[in-house]
Amino acid sequence: MLVLGFESSCDETGVALVEVPAAGAPQLRAQALHSQIRMHQAYGGVVPELASRDHIRRVLPLTREVLSQAQVALSDVDVIAYTQGPGLAGALLVGAGVAVAMAAALNKPTVGVHHLEGHLLSPFLSVDPPEFPFVALLVSGGHTQLMRVDDVGQYQMLGETIDDAAGEAFDKSAKLLGLPYPGGPHLARLAEQGDPTAFDLPRPMLKSGKPDFSFAGLKTAVLTQVKRLGEVPTEQQKADLAASTQAAIVELLLRKSLLALKETGLKRLVVAGGVGANRHLREQLNAACAKRQIRVHYPELSLCTDNGAMIAMAAAMRLQRGMASLRPGAGFEVRPRWTLGAA
Ligand code: KG4
Ligand code: ZN
Repeated sequence: MLVLGFESSCDETGVALVEVPAAGAPQLRAQALHSQIRMHQAYGGVVPELASRDHIRRVLPLTREVLSQAQVALSDVDVIAYTQGPGLAGALLVGAGVAVAMAAALNKPTVGVHHLEGHLLSPFLSVDPPEFPFVALLVSGGHTQLMRVDDVGQYQMLGETIDDAAGEAFDKSAKLLGLPYPGGPHLARLAEQGDPTAFDLPRPMLKSGKPDFSFAGLKTAVLTQVKRLGEVPTEQQKADLAASTQAAIVELLLRKSLLALKETGLKRLVVAGGVGANRHLREQLNAACAKRQIRVHYPELSLCTDNGAMIAMAAAMRLQRGMASLRPGAGFEVRPRWTLGAA
């Protein structure tokens, strides 16, 4: 069975083809991605209307590219998956509209996929896939959650952020430092030249005793430091502040992940979402988990941020378990605010 997947929830158009074998793990056959980052950079953030229009421009050429890479015809596709939510409503509608129209033309069913489930299951596309159960640290631009995952669809929330997401903390701090959008990777690069102990930044809720997060206070503290540095901080001061900010975010993610692992007694951690690409986070998690005989799994670096492969994969894993709600190829709804686990 072949699953074609579309991702268009934010600023990346992703298309991918995943094969579901009769037995064994689904395999990625081909994928293509277009990032809108350059287009949004001029505005310092994602402009929803521009995002939707660009998805419209990219989605069919990317689909052709995927089919040609995999050497299959559109009519060979058995199921069409798309990100149903959460995300930008107009952007979601593009992927959903294209998926449903194609499915109607081919007389094939569609599957609406939860974007966070896509991130969560993306490590199953790596060369070293995890096994259930595990603790998942989901760290993206919009979400920061720790979950107990027993199988596909069996998610128990252990803790989450009460305000900003970790990616937002990276992006907002980067903006304060004058770095371009999206700030996370830029801040991480600048941090490599800096001293992480140079600035004494707060670790909100570090000692709350619960695996939940708060990042808003950190952003305010960064703002205070930026003001203190004055109009023209030196490159070294900026790098030091970047390194100190990254250290604070990473320490919070690390400590709370360890707490969730301890609470559940599980010995496996899966990290997913854009912030999972952060090298410092990976180093810290790897070192702390190695000491505790805990296995850590990540998606391939290129699959940390939004992509079509994770959407096709999530649909494939649901199909294998008979859990996908297949719909005939007509009519659709998007769910811009959709909580993982909610019906
Ligand atoms: O998962 P994702 O692509 O989109 C959402 O679903 O939100 O995550 C994007 C987030 C952005 O906040 C971006 O700055 C952050 O992931 N990010 C990083 C890195 N790469 C991406 N943050 C820190 N270090 C990185 N290397
Ligand atoms: Zn995402």
